[in-house]
Amino acid sequence: MSGNRTFTMIKPDAVEAGHIGAILDKITAAGFKIVAMKYTQLSRRDAQEFYAIHKERPFFGELVDFMTRGPIVAAVLEKDNAVEDFRTLIGATNPAEAAEGTIRKLYARSIGENAVHGSDSDENAAIESAFHFSGREVF
Ligand code: CMP
Repeated sequence: MSGNRTFTMIKPDAVEAGHIGAILDKITAAGFKIVAMKYTQLSRRDAQEFYAIHKERPFFGELVDFMTRGPIVAAVLEKDNAVEDFRTLIGATNPAEAAEGTIRKLYARSIGENAVHGSDSDENAAIESAFHFSGREVF
């Protein structure tokens, strides 16, 4: 059975554009409960560590520049089948390929500046949540 928690970030592009409230509305309207949340900014070291799996990719430098250029909202979300249902809600990585009504279709600018992050597995959801939150900050 799949787990009931996932991790998300509202990325700098969506924060800069004033979409925090609209995106949180979509998330809660879809039945996700927010069990941890913070407004923060990643250091370069944070972003390099968080995205270490992508370090050999040609877009890695661009990704680190983007994710550190301004504040983000990090959150842990709870719902049955959280990882898969959240990835459906946010849509494809590339907003040009994202389904109508998805968060990326509505708010993302490009494959790089794609408004939100969603964990791709239960294992990564746990790792990513622990990267951003201590046990005392998750309810
Ligand atoms: P996400 O899936 O949240 O985590 C990895 C990120 O790398 C992805 O979102 C995009 O922001 C970024 N990314 C993936 N593919 C590309 C690409 N081809 N060019 C630039 N950035 C990318």
